[in-house]
Amino acid sequence: MGWNSWNAYSIAVDETKIKDAADMLVETGMRDAGYEFLVVDDTWMAEDLADDGRFEPHPEDFPSGIADLAEYVHDRGLKFGIYSSAGTETCAGYPASIGNERLHAEQFAEWGVDYLKYDNCGDHRGRDALDRYAAMGEALAEVDREIVYAICEWGDNEPWEWARNAGGQLWRTTGDILPKWRATEDDAYGLGVVEIVDEMADPQIARANGPDGWNDPDMLHVGNGPGSGQAQLDDLDVSEEFPEVEQRTHFSFWCLWSAPLMAGNDLREMDATTKAILTNEDAIAIDQDPLGVQGTRDRVYGDREVWSKPLADRGAAVILFNRGEREVEIETHVEEIDLAAEADEYRVEDVWSDESWTTSDEIGSVVEPHGVAFYRVGPA
Ligand code: GAL
Repeated sequence: MGWNSWNAYSIAVDETKIKDAADMLVETGMRDAGYEFLVVDDTWMAEDLADDGRFEPHPEDFPSGIADLAEYVHDRGLKFGIYSSAGTETCAGYPASIGNERLHAEQFAEWGVDYLKYDNCGDHRGRDALDRYAAMGEALAEVDREIVYAICEWGDNEPWEWARNAGGQLWRTTGDILPKWRATEDDAYGLGVVEIVDEMADPQIARANGPDGWNDPDMLHVGNGPGSGQAQLDDLDVSEEFPEVEQRTHFSFWCLWSAPLMAGNDLREMDATTKAILTNEDAIAIDQDPLGVQGTRDRVYGDREVWSKPLADRGAAVILFNRGEREVEIETHVEEIDLAAEADEYRVEDVWSDESWTTSDEIGSVVEPHGVAFYRVGPA
């Protein structure tokens, strides 16, 4: 769990914003809710590598340097992450790490970096993905510092099959998330939330998940909309607000999948609704459940879907999902979901309303369009 600069600020990131984000993670209670890694995404580096191949920080945007920034972040009880790419350039056109993996891994370790997001842009110099990503994985394993390795090749080469062997602790399964339900042809790239839901329904992907490596369906867009940095600065068609109901669906699915939770909102402007979603303790407990299973789709009937995953206490987490445009009633049964415990009565706890009740069999709810009911179920 953590926060990454990209969705909020895109290419307009600088050290003041990162220091503010570190302060805000503490002040808002996000850190104490579990959001621990603060990751600076693309454009932190100068336009050229130094003559010896090392990175230099962007002189105007990061004048104090990265070691200083990492210290500032560590002093607030957080971990510090950074970004590069397994090619000649980052996606924003800054220099990246292919051919300099060892040098850069050593530099990250010296700076006090705890997490590397490693992207797929630039020229690959004829090397395949496994080769390029394993080179950085090996380099990180050799430095004298624990650095979480986040592989970001957008799911292009089925990383769930090989990213663990390349040293990755998490790997993107899918393209870039947008703060909306569905992408249109006017979006230069990206996927809406429901499109990621459909890609993550693939059992081949689901079975690769956890607890020693994680499918990453991309960062959170909770709290974002047309005003967020990515929407403003990239060639995207994000003109409408991202409705609260869709944001709750987004967060619920990420938790059901045991996905990395990387917030991406401007923490200086976080409102109560956004905070309530991002810091919901029951949702986070389902996300962080020790079994680390990615919840799967149990049944589809028209626009109604039932999803669930087993939990370490032999209970289950359940999503009743309405992908349609009108309110519907969705029902499941204790036999249908991934529930190991057997009992005469089960307790159903509603993650979003905080209500709870008991049932011997049926679990159902009226669900609004694009909405979910999100439950934790266990013996009463
Ligand atoms: C994309 C990546 C995004 C962001 C961006 C930066 O490739 O998927 O998450 O890091 O590059 O340019």
